[in-house]
Amino acid sequence: MSSPVLEAIQKRRSIREYTDHPVESDLLREIIRAGTWAPSGLNNQPWRFVIITDQQTRHRLAAQTHYGHIVKAAPALIAVYLDQAAIYNEVKDHQAAGACIENMLLATEALGLGAVWLGQILQNKQEVNDILGLADDYDLMAVLAIGHPAHHDQHSQRKPLADVILKEI
Ligand SMILES: Cc1cc2nc3c(=O)[nH]c(=O)nc-3n(C[C@H](O)[C@H](O)[C@H](O)COP(=O)(O)O)c2cc1C
Repeated sequence: MSSPVLEAIQKRRSIREYTDHPVESDLLREIIRAGTWAPSGLNNQPWRFVIITDQQTRHRLAAQTHYGHIVKAAPALIAVYLDQAAIYNEVKDHQAAGACIENMLLATEALGLGAVWLGQILQNKQEVNDILGLADDYDLMAVLAIGHPAHHDQHSQRKPLADVILKEI
């Protein structure tokens, strides 16, 4: 079976090295648009985004994660938030955020860009909010580091289906 969507799903890799080339603002908006087309419970669309290209801010954010070298290297970051005021169900809204983030990653692949989902930075979510000047109503879900891929030799593996399908009844 082949389709552009299935191909993007399988070809997408976490990209952690980028060229110096900036990412155009239109493309960043396209990535966010793809995120907003994710499903959400009651279609409540609880996600919110902060686009960061300012070098000084990127460097301040880099100090908040073990993966600071990736944050520094990426010409663009998108912080993905849940708006606590928009939440109706803790679990379902977090699931919606995950769907949103995966849509964004697939969009970067489709646009010829590279990205990685950074979660380790959540250990300092309060500091990240302070740096970005956001109130506590916004709960950080992830930071996406985005750029033009420096290379395409990233590999990854998945468990065979036989290991993850529990039953077929
Ligand atoms: C919730 C979550 C958190 C992640 N956090 C990080 C992170 O902090 N740093 C990092 O380099 N990669 C992070 N990743 C990327 C994973 O390491 C990566 O998706 C996994 O190794 C599979 O590789 P692939 O994306 O190339 O298929 C995270 C992924 C997810 C879904």
